[in-house]
Amino acid sequence: MFFKSLELQNFRNYDNLKLNFDPHINIIVGKNGQGKTNILESLYYIAYLKSHRISDDNVLIKNNKKSFKIKSKIKRENLLDEVKIEQNLDTKHVFFNQTEMLKRAEYLELINVILFEPTNLDILKGSPNIRRDFLNDSISQINSNYYNILNDFNRLLKMRNEFLKSKRNDKDYLDTLDKYYVEKASLIYQMRSKYICRINEFIAGIYKNIMNIDDLKIEYKSFYEKLEDKSTIKESLMAEMKKNYYKEQYTGLTIEGPQKDDFVFITNDINLKEYGSQGQQRGAVISLKFSEAEIVKKYKNVIPVFLLDDVFSELDGIRKNNLIKYITSDYQVILTTTDLAKISKKLITEAKIIKIEDGEIVGG
Ligand SMILES: Nc1ncnc2c1ncn2[C@@H]1O[C@H](COP(=O)(O)OP(=O)(O)OP(=O)(O)O)[C@@H](O)[C@H]1O
Ligand SMILES: [Mg+2]
Repeated sequence: MFFKSLELQNFRNYDNLKLNFDPHINIIVGKNGQGKTNILESLYYIAYLKSHRISDDNVLIKNNKKSFKIKSKIKRENLLDEVKIEQNLDTKHVFFNQTEMLKRAEYLELINVILFEPTNLDILKGSPNIRRDFLNDSISQINSNYYNILNDFNRLLKMRNEFLKSKRNDKDYLDTLDKYYVEKASLIYQMRSKYICRINEFIAGIYKNIMNIDDLKIEYKSFYEKLEDKSTIKESLMAEMKKNYYKEQYTGLTIEGPQKDDFVFITNDINLKEYGSQGQQRGAVISLKFSEAEIVKKYKNVIPVFLLDDVFSELDGIRKNNLIKYITSDYQVILTTTDLAKISKKLITEAKIIKIEDGEIVGG
C-alpha cells in the first residue's frame, strides 16, 4: 500500500496542507521546528489512531482551534481508499470510504505503517512497558482480535486490582475474575510468543545486511516462556495466582500476568542492552522495525509504508548505505531530514523532495 495524498486542517502547525506523495521515495526537508515530524505524525495517526509522541489528542489541534481534520487517499493494488479523521475536543470520527468506523480494532488492521525515529532506541534501552507497547501496537496492526483481547484483559486487571485494594472478602467474585483473567492472559501470552517467533524468522538476516554482524535474536521474557509444557498455561497461571493471593492483598496489585512481560535483544549470547555499542543498539532496533515490516508482508500480504524520522544523522556511512538499499526495495518511504547533504545523491535523484517552512510547502 502507499499514501497517495494527504490533507491536514488545523493539525499541529498546519492550517491547511495539501500534499501528494510519490509511491516510492519521499524526502521531507526543513529546518528544526518547521513541521516535518508533524507530517509523519499525521500519517502515523491514520494507521494507529494515536500520535507516536503524546497521548493527549487535543495537543494535536492547532493552537486556538477546536478541531483538526486529516484526509488521505491510500492506494493498494487497484483500490483507492479514502480515510477521513475528524477530531473535535474529546470526540473522534473516523471514516473509511465514507463509512464511519465504529470499531477501532477493525480499523487498525486496515492501514499498515511502520515508523522509525531516534527515540525508538528506548525499545531496547528503556523500561519494559515500552517493549510491551511495541508488541501491542505491532500485533494489533496485523490482528484485530489481539486489540480486543488486550482491552478485555486490561479491564479485568484493573477490576482485580481494585478488588484487592478494597480488601473485600468475596471469594466467588475473585474466582470468577480469575477465571476470565487467566483465559485472556493465556491468549495474550500465546499471541506474543508467536509474534516473537516470527520476528526471529527475519531479524538476524536483516541485522546482518545492515550491520554486517551475524546473529541477533530477541528473547521473550515471561511467565509463559518459563513453562516447560505450554499447553498447561491456564492451569499453571491459575495455580500461581492462588499462590500469590496473600501477598497481593498487601500490595493491592496482581503479581503475575502479561503486564509483566518483557523481551531482550541477544547477539552472540550477550544482551545488547548491557553490552552493545550505541550503533549496534540502533541497528538492532532498526532491524526489529524491518522485521515488523516483513511480518506484515509475509503474513498479511501487504507492503507497509515506512516513515523514517531523521534516521540518517545517526548511522555511519556504510550502515547508511546498507539501510538505503533495504528501504529502497519495495516500500513507500517517507523520510525527514534537516539537510539534504546527509542523504546520498542516488536517493535524492529518485525521490520526491518536499520542502517545509513554518507549516507550509515551499518551492516545487
Ligand atoms: N498544537 C500546535 N499548534 C500549533 N503549532 C504547534 C502545535 N504543536 C506543535 N506545534 C509547532 O510545530 C513545530 C514542531 O514541528 P515538528 O516537530 O514537526 O518539527 P520538525 O520539523 O520535525 O523539527 P526537528 O527538525 O527539530 O525535528 C513547532 O514549531 C511547534 O511549536
Ligand atoms: Mg522532527
